Amino acid sequence: MIAFENVTKKYVNDQVAVKAINLEINKGEFFVLIGPSGCGKTTLLKMINRLIHLTEGTIRINGKRISDYNIHELRWNIGYVLQQIALFPHMTIEENIAVVPELKKWSKPQIQQRVRELLEMVGLEPDKYSQRKPKELSGGEQQRVGVVRALAADPEIILLDEPFSALDPISRTKLQDDLLELQQTIQKTIVFVSHDMQEALKLGDRICVMKDGEIVQIGTPHEIIQNPVNDFVREFVGIKEYGINTFHIQAVIEPIADEVYQRNRENIISSKDSLNTILQKLAYDECIGVEENGEIIGIVTRASILQYLAHDSLERGNLNG
Ligand SMILES: Nc1ncnc2c1ncn2[C@@H]1O[C@H](COP(=O)(O)OP(=O)(O)O)[C@@H](O)[C@H]1O
Ligand SMILES: [Mg+2]
Repeated sequence: MIAFENVTKKYVNDQVAVKAINLEINKGEFFVLIGPSGCGKTTLLKMINRLIHLTEGTIRINGKRISDYNIHELRWNIGYVLQQIALFPHMTIEENIAVVPELKKWSKPQIQQRVRELLEMVGLEPDKYSQRKPKELSGGEQQRVGVVRALAADPEIILLDEPFSALDPISRTKLQDDLLELQQTIQKTIVFVSHDMQEALKLGDRICVMKDGEIVQIGTPHEIIQNPVNDFVREFVGIKEYGINTFHIQAVIEPIADEVYQRNRENIISSKDSLNTILQKLAYDECIGVEENGEIIGIVTRASILQYLAHDSLERGNLNG
């Protein structure tokens, strides 16, 4: 679907931002680029829709060189979501979402229909939201609009550059969940930049770890955790392993035969959920079921989480992270 062949980017000062990248992203794949600040993630992403011109090598989309596409055809068929919420402030939500469909000369009724459909898809009631201005929405709601705007003209590819990092943790978790759910329906090719391993592990079908403009490792979340290729990747995963932001559900999961859970069967989390999500659910129920691949694999209780947190904070001497 998207192929990088020996792609290098040098900026004017001859500094190499991206070095001889070879990479193939599959159709319908949720592909996450991750690495420390300055490692070249944004550069790599922006070369795909020619917002940045590559210095050497070739990028192909569906076999055709990106340089052979008409620039409008290319851009309009690739959705793009930025980290900073970048809605046009003077335009209504409907007008914001309609930008690319307008450029593509869709009919008015077709555009209105599409806007309704998209707002509903992300839980924003069209009658309530479509005529509002961006500043009348919360940060999380605005970024939701940012995501559906990128989907508006039904592009094959969507590029997202740290789209949720400016949001508070709760909105962020919610938008991650929504994006995962959305992807089950739309099955787009998604390239998602993140600097947060927790986010990458949660969202990615495959994760590409970068450092100093080069690829260090590509693999499924499972492969990255189980077989990090070197200390850099190990540490990148490991930093989080000891932080309370990323934690392993295995540390707190208990067998399912628990009478409390039997009474509260409907409260379920996924084994991929963050600690935050789990804490929110445990605020209402003492005990929640853990689901993995459609099966309930165990339970998590308030007591086990508290024990985990207490132990964790004792070990590290604090509770931040
Ligand atoms: N327009 C530019 N001119 C010169 N250097 C740049 C430019 N944009 C990015 N760089 C440099 O290229 C490297 C990669 O940047 P970037 O792709 O933004 O990294 P990331 O998104 O991983 O933080 C960094 O060293 C950065 O300073
Ligand atoms: Mg960046």
